[in-house]
Amino acid sequence: MWEPYLIGLAPKVRPLQTVEGVCDRLRLIAFAERQAYYAFIEAAERFKDAPTGLADAWKWVAAEEQKHESWYLKRLAELGQDVAAVPVDLKLYHSFSQCKTARDFAFYISDAEERGRVGAERFAELLKDSDPITAQIFAQVAIEEREHVALVTRFFPTESN
Ligand SMILES: [Fe+2]
Ligand SMILES: [Fe+2]
Repeated sequence: MWEPYLIGLAPKVRPLQTVEGVCDRLRLIAFAERQAYYAFIEAAERFKDAPTGLADAWKWVAAEEQKHESWYLKRLAELGQDVAAVPVDLKLYHSFSQCKTARDFAFYISDAEERGRVGAERFAELLKDSDPITAQIFAQVAIEEREHVALVTRFFPTESN
């Protein structure tokens, strides 16, 4: 389920001004997308208390996360870096599995996605001159993540702020 990644202790990322540093971010974020993919697929099966339509929405988001991951991995390969060259860890995936209800999961993952979205926007800005192709990928993902984050207000309208 985690191939071709190498699971281990993720080291500190290298400077963003280097190809290796850009690829350290691409690898980590691609792996976050992979972990989110499984979290959404499993949530759709697991949380029988989900409001009508949410399980289908989760399955749709899962497919979107898979698409984002593929964009990042393609770019990593174009930049000549090996996805398995640096270990990544499963903290994110394990944190999702702590959620006990559909509502918990929806709020928790929405927060995680919002942080991811802000991060992607930041990388898009930081890389726009030095690596516009990678910057464009981050920018497009950030746009698409908005819709994922918004699911929580759509399915739990009275509870979110
Ligand atoms: Fe994503
Ligand atoms: Fe997402």
